[in-house]
Amino acid sequence: MTGGHQRGVLINDNPLRDSRDRRIPRVAGPCVLVMFGVTGDLASKKLLPAVYDLANRGLLPPGFSLVGFARRDWAHEDFGQVAYEAVKLHARTPFRDAVWQQLLEGVRFVPGEFADDAAFDQLAKTVADLDGARAETARSTSPSRRRRSPSSSSSSSGPACPIPADPGPARGPGAGS
Ligand SMILES: NC(=O)c1ccc[n+]([C@@H]2O[C@H](COP(=O)([O-])OP(=O)(O)OC[C@H]3O[C@@H](n4cnc5c(N)ncnc54)[C@H](OP(=O)(O)O)[C@@H]3O)[C@@H](O)[C@H]2O)c1
Repeated sequence: MTGGHQRGVLINDNPLRDSRDRRIPRVAGPCVLVMFGVTGDLASKKLLPAVYDLANRGLLPPGFSLVGFARRDWAHEDFGQVAYEAVKLHARTPFRDAVWQQLLEGVRFVPGEFADDAAFDQLAKTVADLDGARAETARSTSPSRRRRSPSSSSSSSGPACPIPADPGPARGPGAGS
């Protein structure tokens, strides 16, 4: 890979990067992730914690959003609470409230059946709304924008998905310590 990739931000050309750093070398481009079956076992034990771990390692773009879809009649807040509990229980990196709050800003839930056209219309609208609302977050916190604005270097808001001082390799059951 070279530094010319269009959607993701390559960081392997960074002269400050330690060659022993085993984190994946590319940050995803701006995106909305839609997770179907989000109230299920796979999402709570694996997928939601993995999304948090990516955020905690600075590997999600500013403005990243997550939309959950399932039949349960949940509000966004209900899903947020369940996702929080899943992350606290199953994430492999330490819990950091600032990272969680940043992630939570882009969390939405759409109730519906797979066969329900109206639910998919609602899903499309939710994604489109997030695209607009979160795009500004992405713009205002992108690296190029920060470089252009000297005053932002002392901002307390920081990047959307800050890289922790020492995230280390994946930790958790079976990963060793
Ligand atoms: N669990 C694992 O560790 C694991 C590992 C590998 C592969 N998988 C595979 O991943 C898939 C999900 O597994 P799971 O363990 O998470 O299953 P699960 O616990 O039974 O969850 C199923 C999910 O699908 C939703 N759902 C079911 N029917 C639906 C419908 N008609 N419309 C909309 N949403 C519907 C359910 O939500 P509501 O009830 O709220 O609608 C729930 O969120 C399965 O194919 C499984 O074989 C699972």
